[in-house]
Formats: sequence, structure tokens, C-alpha cells
Amino acid sequence: MQNNLKDKTILIGITGGIAAYKICELIRMYKKAGANVKVVMTKNALNFVTKLTLETLSDNKVFVENFETQEREYSPEHISLCDEADIMVIAPASANTISKIATGICDNLLTSVVCAFNKPVIIAPAMNTNMWNNKIIQKNISILKENNYHILEPETGELACKTTGKGRLCDLNLIFEKTSEILGANAVGSGKLKGKKVLITAGGTIEKIDTVRYISNFSSGKMGIALADEAYKQGADVTLIITKPVETPYKTVYVQSAEEMQREVLKSGLKSDLVIMAAAVADFRAETVSKQKIKKTSADTMTLNLVKNPDILKNLCEQKKKTKNKKTVIVGFCAESENLLKNAKEKIAKKGCDYLIANDISKKDSGFSSDYNEVYILDKNGKKSHIERSLKTVIAQKILEKVFE
Ligand code: PMT
Repeated sequence: MQNNLKDKTILIGITGGIAAYKICELIRMYKKAGANVKVVMTKNALNFVTKLTLETLSDNKVFVENFETQEREYSPEHISLCDEADIMVIAPASANTISKIATGICDNLLTSVVCAFNKPVIIAPAMNTNMWNNKIIQKNISILKENNYHILEPETGELACKTTGKGRLCDLNLIFEKTSEILGANAVGSGKLKGKKVLITAGGTIEKIDTVRYISNFSSGKMGIALADEAYKQGADVTLIITKPVETPYKTVYVQSAEEMQREVLKSGLKSDLVIMAAAVADFRAETVSKQKIKKTSADTMTLNLVKNPDILKNLCEQKKKTKNKKTVIVGFCAESENLLKNAKEKIAKKGCDYLIANDISKKDSGFSSDYNEVYILDKNGKKSHIERSLKTVIAQKILEKVFE
């Protein structure tokens, strides 16, 4: 795996929460990868972890309040810390600090630093489930997302308050990977895929029924986005065709239906060196889309006629064969809830693609919507390899490594 952290300065913001102790391990992980780590913490965080511990692990002075360092050349601390850091990681982020950042309040050093920080910020919240579910906190999280803060949502599990629910700080590996991914994307240009054109599809297609209803699936787009981010990081010229608007440093094309997606894929697919179809394309759509909201009638049942959608992957592979294209490598995904390998073997032959990435979508916390996946890579000659359950960012690196071998 590429080390994007070496010689980078990571500014960690720690707020008051029991998960603050876990950040000691995160600091060790960053240091091991060769990063310089600075820490700024709130006064409340001092109740959970000591300044001395963090200073010892980070090899740097830890900052708590404004204007406390006299020995430095004069420079307001929140500005000098911002200048030095390449990225800021706030973990654990309390409901209090999240709300302050979302509303621009700067009443301590940490919130002043975030407000002045114009580089990427990762926020990993951790709190009690009811606080996480509070509509005001959720609204503030949405504000942060809209403003390009990278939110790593908390996990579900046992909490310090002896309840079970969503609120635990996410896996430290996820924070580490996200930091590496962002720093890698910012240092784009030197990678192995320089000069390669890569087209990737992501997300579940949206097939309208009427003006307010649609058929779709649980695909979040995470797998496709991880592939696109990784290809971009390695220097490729990336286009991501996706069913939800996303902010990326590379080109994205927003589509909804399978027909719209097919139009875009067939337009530029064979001009690319690599096409990866990670999107979950609906096999069927409504035969007619009502121009008005369909009214409820007195009948207890309703029949919706569905017609088959085009098979984009198969059509692209047929186009490749017809045009005797030798350049484009086409990779499909295969989502199965049973007989994974048997069905994947049949699917690669039916679709005619070069590689098929088979994932078992019946597994808990893997596949659809999860940050993790576990896959088999099949090639058209019948060879297969396995990638064990890992973050989708890691799976993406391994898939690209394999297909560009
Ligand atoms: O988005 P995430 O939440 O991260 O989840 C990732 C994922 C589980 C959606 C992803 O890993 C995945 O498996 N994507 C493919 C889902 C799917 O539609 O699988 P399938 O077995 O039904 O289709 C096989 C292939 O044909 C896929 O590459 C699909 O994009 C393509 N297809 C399918 C139907 C269709 N009408 N046209 C197509 O091109």
C-alpha cells in the first residue's frame, strides 16, 4: 500500500469524550507511517486523557487554550497551527464541538483552528445514541457534509453509558485510511496510472414510477467512489458516473436511471483504458412514468408493470467485440446472495467482460452500504483470486493493482 503520510503534518483535534483514549493509538499509527503529529484539545478532553501522554506519543507540544505559548515567535496559535498542518482530524468529535463548527463558533483554540483551517478536515463523531439521533445534531452534521468536511460516521455497538446503539467512534483503521486517501489524492500526479483514462460507475440507479416515487436499491456508491478516488490518486484521468451528486477533485457525471447511465457509458467507455461497472443497475423499470403523483384508489392492490432495463455491461462488451477494440479493459461487479462463485462464473461468460469482481451481499457489514467488502476477482480465463474483508479503499487498491498487472 502506498504511504501518503510520510513527512506530512497531521493536526489532531481531541474533544471531551471517553473515546479520547483511543486517539493515543491513532497517534502511534500516524507516527509509524512517518507523519508529524500535532495535537490540539479542548479543556473537557483533558478529563479523559492527559497532555503528558499525548505529548510523549506525538513528540510535540500539545495545545489547549489560546495564547498559551509564550516562547514561540509571535503568531496567533490558531493561525500557526493551520499553516503547519496538511490535514486536520477531529476525533472523537463531541456533539458540542460539532455544533460549534457547524455554526462558526470559535470559543476555544480547537474551534478557532477549525474555523481558520482551509485544508481537508476529517471529523469522527462519538457520542451517546440519543445525542447522535438528535435532529439538531443531524442537521449540523449535514451542514458539515455540505461544506466538504469528511464525516466518518460512528459505529453501532456498546457505549460507555452502558447502552447499545450508534455512537461509538469508528474504527481507527478507517480514520487512518481516510487520512491517507485524502493526502494521496491531494498529492496526485506522480502515480502509476498517469496517462490512463478510467471510467467508473457507482450507486444504485433510480427508476421513476411517478413524480415522487421510484425503484432503487441500497447501493451507497462507496465501492465505486473508492475505486475512482484510488485511480485518481494514482494519477489516472478519472470520470465517475454516479447516481447521487458528490464533490470530487475529478470529473463526475450525475445520472439517475439505467438508460441515462447507459448513454454515458457507451458514449465514452471504449475511449477509456479501463471501465469498472460498480453501479447496482436496476434490472427493471416502470413501463410508464406517470407525469402526476399516482392517486390511491379504493382497491387493495395495485399492479405496476415493469420492463427490462438495458444490460449496460453486456452492451459495452458487445460494442468492444464489434469494434475489435483491444485497448479497453472492462470490469464488471457481481452481487450475489447465494452460490457466489458458481453464479459469478456464469455471469462473466454471459456478460463477456475481462474481469468480474464477485461480492457476497448477504454478509453483515460488507457489500452494500458498508465501508467494508470481501471479494473474489475472476478473469475471463477462469483464474480467480480472493481479497479478504477489508475497507473498500483497500479493496479498490487491490482491484486496480490486479487489472493493471
Ligand atoms: O455502492 P455500495 O454501497 O458501496 O455497494 C457496492 C456494491 C455491492 C453495489 C458493488 O460492490 C456491486 O456489487 N455492484 C454491482 C451490483 C450489481 O448490479 O450486480 P449484478 O450482479 O446485478 O450485475 C452484474 C454487473 O452488470 C454489474 O457490474 C452491474 O453494474 C452490471 N449491470 C447490471 C444490470 C444491468 N441492467 N446493467 C448492468 O450493466
